[in-house]
Amino acid sequence: MAERFDALVVGAGAAGLMCALTAGRRGRRVLVIEHANKVGKKILMSGGGRCNFTNTGTTPANYLSANPHFCKSALARYTPWDFIAMVERHRIAYHEKELGQLFCDVSSKLIVKMLVDECLAAGVRIETDCSIERIAHEDGGDFRAHTARGAFAAPALAVASGGLSIPSMGASGFGYEIARRFGHDVLPTRAGLVPLTLSGKHQERLADLSGLSLPVTASCNGRDFSNQMLITHRGVSGPSILQISSYWQPGDDLRLDLLPGRDALEWLQRQQRERAAAELKTVLGETLPKRFAQRLCEHWLANKPLKQYNLPELKQLAATLSAWPLVASGTEGYRTAEVTLGGVDTDGVSSSTMQSKRVPGLYFIGEVLDVTGWLGGYNFQWAWASGNAAGLAI
Ligand code: FDA
Repeated sequence: MAERFDALVVGAGAAGLMCALTAGRRGRRVLVIEHANKVGKKILMSGGGRCNFTNTGTTPANYLSANPHFCKSALARYTPWDFIAMVERHRIAYHEKELGQLFCDVSSKLIVKMLVDECLAAGVRIETDCSIERIAHEDGGDFRAHTARGAFAAPALAVASGGLSIPSMGASGFGYEIARRFGHDVLPTRAGLVPLTLSGKHQERLADLSGLSLPVTASCNGRDFSNQMLITHRGVSGPSILQISSYWQPGDDLRLDLLPGRDALEWLQRQQRERAAAELKTVLGETLPKRFAQRLCEHWLANKPLKQYNLPELKQLAATLSAWPLVASGTEGYRTAEVTLGGVDTDGVSSSTMQSKRVPGLYFIGEVLDVTGWLGGYNFQWAWASGNAAGLAI
């Protein structure tokens, strides 16, 4: 005999815990099934251990999805301020780092503890170390989860098993398998918010500068992000690169403005007027990290005293500095990606309740869906908002 609940939630991550506590508060008997040995592992490791739990500037424009309208309803009904109110009720100290990004002052453990405390107060049961062997479902009847801890049944099943990034933290393709089995389309998945790798000459020329960071504007496919870029021993990372990686695919043209916020030609002409005898690498080395400027002048720019450049040459320099082509060979993949792009096609899911349009009682929430946020707290805000939407409906 299966033990019966009102709802089974698969995955005790951000979306699953939010869905469970919301449904529990409404008097629903909820069981959360988690196959890892503890809950909220990604929350714990997020934001360098301080969890960038939301972004006060969240709008639907901060998300990638085949249907950019899908996220609107849930985001409007559960805003960053709703989550902040819960954080404040639990007296968790936080601060804004930059660009609306809110982080815990002390530790992301406090966010996990808050979610678990809210779940327990709402009567939610959480089973960790509990792997699902199979899910059975009869038309119009209960969903039955056969697990290592016995069988559980409920008329609602919320799939909150996340994406494929960081497999060592419990990530699995479970949600996609369930979706396919119940007739849903799953859009192709790929790593997002992920460092890019370089190969060949680019890699050889930059690898020994690993650890060096500089502000850039990275542009690709009509998008641009201004922030730091970090050179790594395999390629490039840092916020500007992680952001643009979600818009980049192999073969796409990726450009870096190395003098962000400045008109490169105007700047070069001023330098030429004021410091005619100085060499390009000296002048560039005062505004870019010195070793990076030298490397640029060894391989990409002709170095000489500024007075020796004629106007066409200066224009060429300006064009290279403001749109330096970065030939990435790939990404570091799911091993280090913060998120998974693509996933369960939102066409088959209600945007107000997250319920399947094909199978009543089946819900998809969080990262398993084809909704992916930018870097900066947007992904957790989607997990809270979609978890809340389903928690109000089941
Ligand atoms: P999540 O991955 O959180 O949870 C899924 C859960 O389901 C996991 O506990 C998993 O073990 C479980 N599960 C999987 N398969 C299962 C199965 N078959 N049976 C049972 N359980 C199963 N975002 C942000 O907004 N701010 C930030 O600071 C960061 N930082 C960050 C750092 C790093 C290193 C990573 C990898 C990611 C981030 N993110 C982030 C992204 C954020 O962590 C992510 O978008 C959310 O955790 C997604 O929430 P979900 O609940 O959908 O999945």
